[in-house]
Amino acid sequence: MRQRIILDVDTGVDDSLALLYLLASPDAEIMGIASTAGNVPAAQVAINNLAWLELARAPEIEVALGAAEPLEIPLRTTEDTHGPHGVGYAELPAPTRRISQRSAARMWVDLARRHPGELLGLCTGPLTNLALALREEPELPRLLRRLVIMGGAFDHPGNTTPTNEWNIHVDPEAAKVVFDAFSAAPPDRRPLICALDITETIEMRPAHLIRLAERAGSHPIETVSPIDPPTARSAASNPIIRYLTDAVRFYFDFHHGYDLGYLAHMHDPFAAAVALDPALARTRPATVDVELTGTLTRGATIADRAGMWGRPPNADIVVGTDPVRFFDRMIARIGDHARTVYPGEPIGEPVGRRR
Ligand code: RIB
Ligand code: CA
Repeated sequence: MRQRIILDVDTGVDDSLALLYLLASPDAEIMGIASTAGNVPAAQVAINNLAWLELARAPEIEVALGAAEPLEIPLRTTEDTHGPHGVGYAELPAPTRRISQRSAARMWVDLARRHPGELLGLCTGPLTNLALALREEPELPRLLRRLVIMGGAFDHPGNTTPTNEWNIHVDPEAAKVVFDAFSAAPPDRRPLICALDITETIEMRPAHLIRLAERAGSHPIETVSPIDPPTARSAASNPIIRYLTDAVRFYFDFHHGYDLGYLAHMHDPFAAAVALDPALARTRPATVDVELTGTLTRGATIADRAGMWGRPPNADIVVGTDPVRFFDRMIARIGDHARTVYPGEPIGEPVGRRR
């Protein structure tokens, strides 16, 4: 059965892979995409979403523009991590599709009200627009079937400050609104949280890109490396593989630059895979809250697993998975989809740019 999803992203290199994963998944139907400011400004996120949908020859899917700023603090973006336009080195063809007339928050509320109890919410960016939607419709936690969030760090260092994970750091007030709102959710509807604790074990490497290209029947098979100049561009015959390679290579360079290895943490496609199939993850309930007043720790996510605060659990935190099983599934789905969408790219002289 296809799971109907509201996707809320700050596209982003790994958000791009999450979107491609869902488009490639026969058990997923994207009902709408909220473009949230984070990795890059909201307008650029929306353009990236439209561009990937067009490149992937996806059906018409609503892309709504989110708020320009977080709830209470100025927007911080991270082009150094995801590239000048948020999709690494990829220069995606400008989309002809247009964004929705309604806001991202309005789309959340309208879709949830129209499909009560049916929709899965998946957030892989800051929670600004979900928080705005909760202000419009406090019943959202009961209207959604389930919520999956990529965000936070619990027994694990942050990636933005020593304690903070990016999506929460960008808009801590929004995160607190969301976690508080779901405090009343019944156990089977507690948000599933994919935090850095688990997503930093999902390490994509050049070999995964090779497997993706092979699965897609793309040519030539390219091996990206840290000595590739920033001006290098994939010449893969399959356009999805070509632009995905250019996007991910920037993310490899970023992690390599911080001595994390020539790899990329696939936070968002992992959250998408868990959203479609929670059996991929082992979870533990906890009461999650967000620090808003700490001098050094503002924006940190805290998990009480022992009921010390006397408050019921409001989240299921992913504490275990099998990264190999995830990558096998992601490569199979995106690779097969790329081959289906672009079946007969000429073998030999690729249409792309030379490396
Ligand atoms: O901290 C990782 C998260 O922040 C990912 O969702 C990445 O895309 C950025 O949004
Ligand atoms: Ca993201």
